[in-house]
Amino acid sequence: MTACRICQGSVHQFFDFGSQPLSDGFLRPEETAGEFFYRLAVGVCRSCTMVQLMEEVPRERMFRADYPYHSSMSVKMREHFTRTAHRLLDTECPDGDPLVVEIGCNDGAMLSTVAARGVRHLGVDPSRDVAEVAAGKGVRVRVDFFEESLAREVAAAEGPAQVIYAANTMCHIPYLDSVFRGVDALLAPGGVFVFEDPYLGDVVERTSFDQIYDEHFYLFSATSVRAAARRYGFDLVEVERLPVHGGEVRYTLARAGARTPSGQVEALIREEAQRRIAGISTLEQFATQVKRNIEELAALLRRLREEGARVAAYGATAKSATVTNYGGFGPDLIPAVYDSTPAKQGLLTPGAHIPVRPLKEFSQPYPEYVVLFAWNHAQEIIEKERAFREQGGKWILYVPELHIL
Ligand code: SAH
Ligand code: TMP
Ligand code: ZN
Repeated sequence: MTACRICQGSVHQFFDFGSQPLSDGFLRPEETAGEFFYRLAVGVCRSCTMVQLMEEVPRERMFRADYPYHSSMSVKMREHFTRTAHRLLDTECPDGDPLVVEIGCNDGAMLSTVAARGVRHLGVDPSRDVAEVAAGKGVRVRVDFFEESLAREVAAAEGPAQVIYAANTMCHIPYLDSVFRGVDALLAPGGVFVFEDPYLGDVVERTSFDQIYDEHFYLFSATSVRAAARRYGFDLVEVERLPVHGGEVRYTLARAGARTPSGQVEALIREEAQRRIAGISTLEQFATQVKRNIEELAALLRRLREEGARVAAYGATAKSATVTNYGGFGPDLIPAVYDSTPAKQGLLTPGAHIPVRPLKEFSQPYPEYVVLFAWNHAQEIIEKERAFREQGGKWILYVPELHIL
């Protein structure tokens, strides 16, 4: 039996994706022999409802100096983080000399706005290359993992933080006990800890199974986050559904008793109970739907290969590692994936070993069918690449179900 990483309760496994590589482990052809694999399986805690991976990948393997994910590749995400920064500063830091700390600041997509407004801040991120990009934007970064000892050091050196923020990072950290104790050490008495991550409710509803991969150790809900927060002396005081990355929730935590929780919190928790989003039967149904989506995508790709159609993919996402490796989709079915990230171009995708090509080659000539691995950026990409469809190209999406656009 696996014990829950939060409460030690028993975890019921509901899907096994088998052997998987590091989702951001893009590699050179000569590196494929020594590639690292682990078993990707996911379960739900019967006590606190936290959805979590059954096996943990060591953090140093995932968040290396050359970690290739750059938040600022998407215009929509840049806008989202600029708006977020202004809102946090306007509502939480009205006066004085506030300190804003971000866990997982990556290339400075959020903190660059805080820096531009001249507000004291610190980003913490273990991935050196992206941290250097942030520093180039005037962001103060510490290249390290956020955990209790680091938080105590920051608190001693710089005083309390009015805001501690994390986007798409809390769900990456199995050892949330140390993170919460660190937040407890660093947060000002009236401060807030705000984080946003993919929402279990959306993953289940949209069958967005590729949100499950090594870096996404947890899939949060309001119910599971409130239970976890309470263990460390925090109240969940606000929740907000976000449209980004296929559906997320932004959770606002405050010290117990410091703020009155908004009605939205109770409402979302009630909705989660009514929908039984962490119920075993719901998750078993989800598992059945995942298998169906993958089988349908596999059948389509095989048919297109038989017909001799020119197929490719768009967006060398971490998510797509789950799709390609579970589905067995290698370069025989998908000969290339186009991506805007220089750090991924010229390399092979993890496990499936599909070559990553720069976007400027996308139209030379256009493929006939393109699997949209970055389906969470569909609006932005389909709009940007409208010439592809205008000349007859077809997008293939597999979330929430297989469909061709
Ligand atoms: N916040 C950005 C980046 C998300 S990617 C966004 O939403 O787009 C996750 C980032 O978290 C990576 O840059 C990774 O290096 C960082 N990270 C992973 N574990 C961390 C930890 N324990 N402490 C701080 N940052 C961490
Ligand atoms: P994400 O879904 O984890 O944010 O990853 C998106 C990937 O897609 C990332 O590697 C950047 C890439 N991308 C493009 O190639 N073109 C685009 O227009 C956008 C928005 C992303
Ligand atoms: Zn639990």
